[in-house]
Amino acid sequence: MRMTRRRFTQSAAAVGAMCASPLARAAAPAGSLGALAREKGILFGTAMSAAQISDDAYVELVRRECDVIVAENEHKWYVIRADRAAWNFAPADALADFAKNNSIAMRGHTLLWHHPRWLPDWVNALDFKSAAEAETMLGEYIGKVAGRYAPLIHSWDVVNETIDDETGKLRETSFSRAMGADVIEFCFHKAREAAPGARLAYNDYMSWEQGSAKHRAGVLKLLERLKKNDAPIDALGVQSHSNYDMPDEFTPAKRREWRRFMDEVVGMGLEVYLTEFDVNDTRMTPDIAIRDQIIASYTKDYLDLMFSYPQVKELLAWGLVDKYSWLQTFLPRTDGVEKRPTLFDSSYAKKPIYDAVAAAIRAAPLRGPGM
Ligand code: XIL
Repeated sequence: MRMTRRRFTQSAAAVGAMCASPLARAAAPAGSLGALAREKGILFGTAMSAAQISDDAYVELVRRECDVIVAENEHKWYVIRADRAAWNFAPADALADFAKNNSIAMRGHTLLWHHPRWLPDWVNALDFKSAAEAETMLGEYIGKVAGRYAPLIHSWDVVNETIDDETGKLRETSFSRAMGADVIEFCFHKAREAAPGARLAYNDYMSWEQGSAKHRAGVLKLLERLKKNDAPIDALGVQSHSNYDMPDEFTPAKRREWRRFMDEVVGMGLEVYLTEFDVNDTRMTPDIAIRDQIIASYTKDYLDLMFSYPQVKELLAWGLVDKYSWLQTFLPRTDGVEKRPTLFDSSYAKKPIYDAVAAAIRAAPLRGPGM
């Protein structure tokens, strides 16, 4: 018998009553990536924007494939507090309502993108007179945002991208100028206070790519420090964009280096979430069939490696449809050809990368619910 969405949601709700895992709110129907992943103890989903709620075809894909969404931009300072005077929760609320109405879980991204490029100008211009003054502003923001979406949001990227990829050091913002490196610990404590039920992650784009060694080392150093200082951190978010290397450059030597990094992370007792998966094809042949095949083959290899770690509990695509991908404008192709970084093409048709994700999930060893 084909399970209707309603019946499925009801049975998922019954499971939900028994366990607190976000998987309990799962809604994607049998045969979908969400359902396949759920069988392995993995939560599958996508980033989504509030504007996409009015794209029926996009909504259909999300409802069909996903057990979890994350706001692409709507939880960031530059949306919620673009102006000091005004708090703008409407776009994030719309996504939270969408998640609730469709029995889809929600991740939170991000309470502090600790990178001046991505903070509003008025924040960058702040000159706090004391650490306490900075703590008041940051604490108010984290308390309001994490508190507003508790208990819906089961996991937060508390801090995003604070390690400079060129130096491996902490980036500087108006907050760190006043509070020093402790700003990071402060964010984790505030997040735990405001959203006590949420898994708390540090999220960044260190990767297997050439040139990422300092970035990886800097992130490991930060995680070690957070653990040593008893910051309430549960997970590392591995963004999983391939930014600068092309998918056919995932060589055995780079895989070994990347495993060494992952071994260190899980050795610290952390879970790992793949938070922003997509594949960048800036320098690949424009030939669609060849490009899709190489992207798919890389995807299977990358996800096989990642899923071999039972600590990997979530996989979120950074968007589902090529035309909406941020990569169309970030590191664009010089030939003007449309990029193909996501699971569906711009007419919403599945591509080989979709089958590669499905195959990797099918091959993944079963893992237990959150630690
Ligand atoms: C990107 C969004 O996709 C874009 O729409 C926005 O203009 C910039 O941010 N790493 C992250 C995400 O942590 O928040 C970024 O999202 C992509 C890179």
